Amino acid sequence: MFTVYVAVASDLEQAIVAEIKGRPDLVLLGTAHDAFTAIRACRQAHPGVLILDDALLANASADALASLANAPYPIILLAGADGPAVAKRALTIGAQDLVDRAEWRQELLPSLERVARPLAGDKREGRVISVFSSKGGVGKTMLSANLAVSLADKVHDPVVIVDLDLTFGDIAALFGATPKTTIRDLMTAPLTLQAVMGALTEVLPQVFVLAAPRTPEEVEDIRAEALVPVFQWLRQAFHYVIVDLSPGYDQINVTTLDLSDVVLVITTPDVVTLRAVSQSLRLFRQGFHYDEQKVRLVLNRSGSRTGITVQDVAATLKQPVLYELPTEGNLPARAANQGVPLLRLEPESSLAVAIGDLASRLIQEESGRRPKRRGPRAWFESFTRRHR
Ligand SMILES: Nc1ncnc2c1ncn2[C@@H]1O[C@H](COP(=O)(O)OP(=O)(O)O)[C@@H](O)[C@H]1O
Ligand SMILES: [Mg+2]
Repeated sequence: MFTVYVAVASDLEQAIVAEIKGRPDLVLLGTAHDAFTAIRACRQAHPGVLILDDALLANASADALASLANAPYPIILLAGADGPAVAKRALTIGAQDLVDRAEWRQELLPSLERVARPLAGDKREGRVISVFSSKGGVGKTMLSANLAVSLADKVHDPVVIVDLDLTFGDIAALFGATPKTTIRDLMTAPLTLQAVMGALTEVLPQVFVLAAPRTPEEVEDIRAEALVPVFQWLRQAFHYVIVDLSPGYDQINVTTLDLSDVVLVITTPDVVTLRAVSQSLRLFRQGFHYDEQKVRLVLNRSGSRTGITVQDVAATLKQPVLYELPTEGNLPARAANQGVPLLRLEPESSLAVAIGDLASRLIQEESGRRPKRRGPRAWFESFTRRHR
């Protein structure tokens, strides 16, 4: 897995961005239409590779060319076929590879594989499962928390929840926990596995939370590109990384959605939510090029007497409802008030059983695919023993 920054002229931008977004192992850090902006952004973002359009070098200053030549990240130059002039520019900026603009669909991905610097410790083992909705109050946090508990119960292995509803994060509260550390503590490079593990709060045996920042001021400090290595380390240490996202499409959400293996999109059976969710699904399909394996529809509060059935939901959203979660009166709210997850408070309730079923289905997809792991996990186990 690696991060990519794209600086290309507008005729190619959309297509290249789509190509990158469609691949969970590539994470787009940003785009620019001129070399100056790209250089400035990359100084902050430390991409694994910069895809740079030769067309943008025509007006670049000598300073800009020198910055590129000294850049610590590899550069792939995308160029038309005008021979020696291109070769000279590629040499000047120290490009690692040259890709023909006309052939980029065939050449770019192989070039990325060759040139890009993978993230530290990259083995890409654990699965990142994001819980998203275009609306608040639909049950994202309720599902994230209880899905994590259920997965941990079933795989007998630790699971982590990342609270990326940065401003209103309340995952820890659902477990009655008051974290001493938050994701804010991880915003200073360089990141190590040890630093990431040290920022987690164990809220139940086998269930860890990377908590949201404590204040709105701290939320400002969270940078999307800094989250990428955090996820990378979490993937190393956990089979399942559950992410509770906020509504909307800010850079933090988009980066996280891109690197997720599965996005659970929650809707409820009401017209306002369906309309908003329908727009998200369209964006995911057409703008982000995510497929139906990745984007999965969850109907929460199914069976509410709204006059809208599960068939109506699937027809409106043009996508099957894969998972249905029943409405459960005030039980989830009572669990939240007590700081005890529903799965522990009322494990026999129909909502708890439905979440358990969702967890089982996610686990089944994995069976046979996952090798036994060594390395960071052994370290992780001794770490958690020491900190219990
Ligand atoms: N299936 C359900 N049945 C009853 N109440 C639910 C259900 N799902 C969620 N809730 C309640 O709805 C409210 C909003 O849920 P929450 O998970 O906080 O939404 P979000 O994170 O999407 O904003 C909470 O009080 C929660 O307990
Ligand atoms: Mg929430």
